[in-house]
Amino acid sequence: MSATLLNGKKLAEKKREEMKKEVSALREKGIVPGLAVILVGENAASKVYVRSKQKACEEIGIHSTLTEMPDTISEQELLQEIDRLNNDASIDGILVQLPLPDHISEQAVIERISPAKDVDGFHPINIGKMMTGEDTFLPCTPFGVVEMLKEANIEFEGKHVVVIGRSNIVGKPVGQLLLNENATVTYCHSRTRNLPEITKQGDILIVAVGKANFVGEEHVKPGAVVVDVGINRVDGKLCGDVDFNQVEPVASYLTPVPGGVGPMTITMLLHNTIQSAKQRG
Ligand code: GUN
Repeated sequence: MSATLLNGKKLAEKKREEMKKEVSALREKGIVPGLAVILVGENAASKVYVRSKQKACEEIGIHSTLTEMPDTISEQELLQEIDRLNNDASIDGILVQLPLPDHISEQAVIERISPAKDVDGFHPINIGKMMTGEDTFLPCTPFGVVEMLKEANIEFEGKHVVVIGRSNIVGKPVGQLLLNENATVTYCHSRTRNLPEITKQGDILIVAVGKANFVGEEHVKPGAVVVDVGINRVDGKLCGDVDFNQVEPVASYLTPVPGGVGPMTITMLLHNTIQSAKQRG
């Protein structure tokens, strides 16, 4: 058996075409969706991500602004910029690119963003709403994963989902979203014992550990759906957290890197920004 590849790039393109129409309808009503991005410091990967987010906005007609701040700014200065954007009626979404320099509290920054403009879905109020299953901004990468699986008609009800990774951005919320879809969810992490024994029970295995080629065939139940959230660079080449060559013959479905989950993250950010613009007022 060899896995069917889940094409995130194609789904992202389809969704963005639909969003383009939605944005142009909003513009006709005088509403131009606006996303404000704040970038602190010189992190090369962050610069690339921020540029991609702005380009994606431009392509579908979302207005975007960029505030670049040196890594010497104080937490107070960053919080003041967030306050300014919270009060700017032309801005529907605020995104502070993470990570931040060590002297700035990421949690304080996340909590300063108005929950109504938190298109990353990181504010504790929005995380709480996600947990209780209320309508809210969902974190973009987990949201993109669920959308990809739904597009492939993969069922969640009663399925055993095993998540490797427990970050606030991906691991924890992706498990929560699939729990909301009636899956049975197990979390594994760096302190988990007998990892392959547990991951091999997963009907759906979601890998978000940030280590190149970490998951091999010994971790995967034959016929499992495997979602690779990793983006790593090895010898200048992009690769995921899953060893593609080992896992592709074993899995039923697999997300490739690049072209899998990655393009969906920005797509769901655009989605959240449009939803926020619709709720203006
Ligand atoms: N850094 C890595 N991923 C993300 C993300 O989804 N949002 C923000 N703001 N920063 C990130």
